Amino acid sequence: MDKMGKSLVVSSVKGGVGKTVTVLNLAGICELLNKKTLIIDFDIYTGNVALTLNTRFISNMYNLTQDIANNNYKKLSDYVVKYDNFIDILPAPKDPRASLKINLAYIETIIDLAKSCYDIVLIDTTHILNELNIRLFDKTDKIVLLMENDPQDVKNMKALTKVLNSSNSKKYEIMLNNSTNPHKHYFSEFDLETIINHKINYTISNKFFIKNIDDFIMNGEIVTLNKRMSNLFNKEFTQYTNLILNLMDVKEGDK
Ligand SMILES: Nc1ncnc2c1ncn2[C@@H]1O[C@H](COP(=O)(O)OP(=O)(O)OP(=O)(O)O)[C@@H](O)[C@H]1O
Ligand SMILES: [Mg+2]
Repeated sequence: MDKMGKSLVVSSVKGGVGKTVTVLNLAGICELLNKKTLIIDFDIYTGNVALTLNTRFISNMYNLTQDIANNNYKKLSDYVVKYDNFIDILPAPKDPRASLKINLAYIETIIDLAKSCYDIVLIDTTHILNELNIRLFDKTDKIVLLMENDPQDVKNMKALTKVLNSSNSKKYEIMLNNSTNPHKHYFSEFDLETIINHKINYTISNKFFIKNIDDFIMNGEIVTLNKRMSNLFNKEFTQYTNLILNLMDVKEGDK
């Protein structure tokens, strides 16, 4: 029988705030919860989830959209690459010319197909508010916006929350990520919430700044699947786990 999984898009208003690392960390948490998980790399021009995890792939999202368009699609597993027994990846194309040719009309179909095969679908994006991201925001079950404690980021986030409050108000959540830029703490959390007019649903502390993160990336290792890290960063792992449990709780009517 088809599954009816849940989808989550991770985005931001500024680049480099930790979206990709967060998506990978969340995938690790899904695995710890025994959930079959697909990461979709919708950062279609510069996405590197599959490479970051040291997986080798040939088929990618472009081939999938082409085959759907030409009635050659058979099954999603023909296009994904396996990371381990729980986590698969639908990669972005390696060649940006192929990315240019991805027909955005199939975004919704891709997410529906993914939800029918996996418990959890995690979507990595860029920070650009283009047609692709807006369609992803509309289609997915939950949106998590990552933000640093940085005046420029906060000002832009205020503008976005204003838009979302009038459209997707129920389903977006804010994650304050202090781990990418551990010395930035311009505002208090209370001030941040007042400025952006939204609760900060999850906070990742600056203690989670991982000095040797590059070793994890070189080894294609997910931080949350490392036993030593789970002992050291119990608080952060709990935040990620709560996020996934909240996602699993979303009812179709909540959207
Ligand atoms: N917890 C952490 N500790 C240390 N460095 C981190 C942490 N999380 C992310 N980084 C580093 O911060 C940088 C940005 O992270 P990441 O690539 O996940 O951000 P992004 O929002 O996906 O960026 P982009 O907008 O370019 O896609 C990377 O070099 C990453 O290795
Ligand atoms: Mg990224």
